Amino acid sequence: MRTMIVIIVSFVACLGVVACGGGGGDGGDATGGSSTSAAVNVTPAMLERGQEIYTMNCVPCHGPGGKGDGPSAATLNPPPRDHTDPALMENLTDKRVGQTVQQGGLISGYPNMPSSPHIRGDDLVALVAFVRSLHRDTVESVDLEDLQ
Ligand code: HEC
Repeated sequence: MRTMIVIIVSFVACLGVVACGGGGGDGGDATGGSSTSAAVNVTPAMLERGQEIYTMNCVPCHGPGGKGDGPSAATLNPPPRDHTDPALMENLTDKRVGQTVQQGGLISGYPNMPSSPHIRGDDLVALVAFVRSLHRDTVESVDLEDLQ
């Protein structure tokens, strides 16, 4: 009987791992293997891509320059985070910025920021790199750890 319970428990735990960790594999990118926790060097192309994603998804609230003054910001309290302020932004790890994007501001108690689960993989890396470029002179690398 006890063995049965152990088997069921490990089966459920296993499902959990698959559900959390295995969801991101769209397309199984041939380049770069599947290592999930490595710093990625930031290239100009990546920053350009990041800016495109930022323009489409973040500018309405965070503003074109990231200062938190987009057209939808006026009605938000608290206002969207100023991404140009290093004092505010350097408190957040790259992974945390990525998680905020994917899961929304609710994880930090700001339900007004929506989740964008469709931004992931290379796009998420590029976006986080661009966000860093708003408060850093140079962005050398981004490390989303195990976030995909
Ligand atoms: C509907 C408006 C809205 C949109 C769209 C939006 N945000 Fe936000 N964002 C907010 C608000 C409101 C906050 C909370 C204010 C704060 O953090 O001080 C916030 C906070 C943040 C924070 C700080 C979170 C923390 O833990 O302090 C980050 C990082 C961020 N946004 C990034 C982004 C990125 C990147 C995008 C585009 C993918 C985006 N946001 C899209 C409104 C928005």
